Amino acid sequence: MRLLREAGEVVVPAHPPSAEQLLQACASGRHDVVVAQLTDHFDEELLATARIRGVSNYAVGHDNVSVPAATRRGILVGNTPGVLTDATADLALLLILATARRCVEADAFVRAGRFDGWRPELLLGADVSGATLGLAGFGRIARATAERALGFGMDVRYWARRGPVPEAELGALAGRVRHASWDEVVRESDFLSLHVPLSPGTHHLVDAATLRAMKPTACLINTARGPVVDEHALVEALRTGEIAGAGLDVYEREPALADGLAELPNTTLLPHVGSATRSVRARMARLCADNAVAMATGRRPAHLVNP
Ligand code: DGY
Repeated sequence: MRLLREAGEVVVPAHPPSAEQLLQACASGRHDVVVAQLTDHFDEELLATARIRGVSNYAVGHDNVSVPAATRRGILVGNTPGVLTDATADLALLLILATARRCVEADAFVRAGRFDGWRPELLLGADVSGATLGLAGFGRIARATAERALGFGMDVRYWARRGPVPEAELGALAGRVRHASWDEVVRESDFLSLHVPLSPGTHHLVDAATLRAMKPTACLINTARGPVVDEHALVEALRTGEIAGAGLDVYEREPALADGLAELPNTTLLPHVGSATRSVRARMARLCADNAVAMATGRRPAHLVNP
């Protein structure tokens, strides 16, 4: 806020704006730049009447903004890459471990006063060491997840839309991870972790057919975007034992959950907190403010997502 106020007048709405209020504010011609959250949608309709120079998104993901429509109208779109990579990869590992070892069930068991002593078969889970981790997507967060998973003794393979990444570009991961086809990653993973951006091409990438093709012992992990998974199909797959569990930080219709999801014991459910550490949120705020000030003062922002 200090950086923004030094650069000009800042208007902060009392409540998150409704879609209609956002559309009107953008069309009013009174604002040069909008600092947006991932819950603010800048679709074709809004952008068609928008009289703004830019949208500075307080997130690395920018699926809430139609970038092609913004670009056509000369509206800049900024984001906050890099600073949340480690925190989000940490959370992916947390979901893998928590889901494998039934952490939520175990915690509830103790709190309910049901722990009456060590028993050989109490709350048995799955091994992480030696298990196969399949990564969908192989950008910054997927690679940071791979590094952590290797430390836990996992066998890591990845699928990337653009095909294998040249070994020379893999740094410390060279020779330790391998590219596989989507079908192979789906069929052979014990944990399938999603790290693709949401786009028309990745919407429902994990659908009923994908879930059927996974191992019945496998867990799905999603720290990317909810609509990458058909959540209704996921609930069915978890209910019928087509897969063993799911660790989710994001949902198809946030903040709503698909019917039945919250009742399933074989899930670890978090409220979209992948980047939620104090220092990461401060660094995101800094990048977001720098982008906004650059847009407002006619400079090119450091993190621009328009092509
Ligand atoms: C992002 O940045 O895209 C996350 O989902 C929120 O930090």
